[in-house]
Amino acid sequence: MSRVLIAPSILSADFSKLGEEIKAVEKAGADWIHCDVMDGHFVDNITMGVCVVKSIRPVTRLPIDVHLMIANPEKYVESFIRAGSDIITFHIEAEDDPKEMIKLIRYFKKKVGVSIRPKTDCKRIAPVLAMVDMALVMTVEPGFGGQEFMLDCLPKIEELRKIFKKDIQVDGGINEANAPEAVKSGANILVAGTSVFGSKNYAEAIRRLRG
Ligand code: DX5
Ligand code: ZN
Repeated sequence: MSRVLIAPSILSADFSKLGEEIKAVEKAGADWIHCDVMDGHFVDNITMGVCVVKSIRPVTRLPIDVHLMIANPEKYVESFIRAGSDIITFHIEAEDDPKEMIKLIRYFKKKVGVSIRPKTDCKRIAPVLAMVDMALVMTVEPGFGGQEFMLDCLPKIEELRKIFKKDIQVDGGINEANAPEAVKSGANILVAGTSVFGSKNYAEAIRRLRG
């Protein structure tokens, strides 16, 4: 298995100095920068939008990994890509026509991820797995950082790994205690908000997550 990648979620960063925070995690060994976009419809929270992606683009050389937790994601794909996103992940629960959504992201030659909430079965994404680069298994109900990892999502990661050989990302409540289990189950990209930005030493936190 290839190296485990760590994608710190800037939702837990200090927004008053976002540029410095991103530079700090890049220096600390982060692989991707994860941006949690929420619209107050698909989830009960409102976070960041296109202007944040645009302003952080010049700050880092790392891939910007955009996790869209929004209704009608197809409406915003082009704006997020023009702002500098490298990977666009959308929720299968939010999209009536996932194949068209994937084709749209591909048209702009960007990586595509498809995500499922903790209660959504893997079977729901099975028809589009051949078209995507990454599957994102949520290990908390999307909406907020700082929640507890849902252990009962681990079998779903295992189930998915059996049928999907590309990137499997996990997101929600990941810390150094549960990261090894997520990886053992088949995940190879770990999103981490609180356990990175809430730590005193980002490099140490990232190292421990990578295991
Ligand atoms: C939850 C977001 C996650 C989350 C990660 O809806 O998609 O990326 O903020 O933060 P922690 O690691 O604190 O759960
Ligand atoms: Zn996320």
